Amino acid sequence: MKYNLTEIISLIKDRRTIYPEQYKSRKVHKEQVELMLDAANWAPTHGMTEPWRFKVFSGNKLRELMQIMADIYRDTTPPEQFMDSKYHRFAERAEKTSYVIAVCMKRQESERIPEIEEVMAVACAVQNLMLTATAYGIGTFWSTGGGVYSKRLHDYLNLGHKDKCLGLIYIGYPQGEWPTGKRGIIYNKVEWYE
Ligand SMILES: Cc1cc2nc3c(=O)[nH]c(=O)nc-3n(C[C@H](O)[C@H](O)[C@H](O)COP(=O)(O)O)c2cc1C
Repeated sequence: MKYNLTEIISLIKDRRTIYPEQYKSRKVHKEQVELMLDAANWAPTHGMTEPWRFKVFSGNKLRELMQIMADIYRDTTPPEQFMDSKYHRFAERAEKTSYVIAVCMKRQESERIPEIEEVMAVACAVQNLMLTATAYGIGTFWSTGGGVYSKRLHDYLNLGHKDKCLGLIYIGYPQGEWPTGKRGIIYNKVEWYE
């Protein structure tokens, strides 16, 4: 065995979505985020396009990003559905979260590789990033709701017109117990052809 598989499988199963509301005040260090990003960079990539791009927000820039998200929510939600608490949640998240990473896909100029494969490569990169966070005991939340796919965020992130934002990853230390996960058994999801 080349690696400690017991540890690796435990790490994979232990990765959890942890929301900013569950973060404690302890801050994640920049060096830890750098290691997460380096792991992300080793995702598989068809045609070596390496389409993952990361825009890392903290401090006042994170507050600014959260204000943009709140404004998008306000401006795209019908008045009868608008909730004050949801609008203010973004500002609260800015205070709770150490870093938010906007995960983006840089579209290949020639478009030779199908877009879905570039999206999948970025998703693999995100998994690498989240597993590295898990190894530190750091929680992550991959958010795709509330305006993540909007033109306004696209423009704010300075993306090319064929590029895409695929989500915001919130990063922070959880308070209290590390949550337990839940999955249906694998056997119901596999067919073997032998
Ligand atoms: C592509 C993607 C997008 C997601 N977007 C959201 C989201 O917008 N809101 C949310 O609450 N969870 C989101 N999640 C996280 C899932 O809710 C979470 O993975 C699921 O509940 C399983 O929990 P676990 O990650 O702790 O195993 C997303 C996950 C993926 C893979």
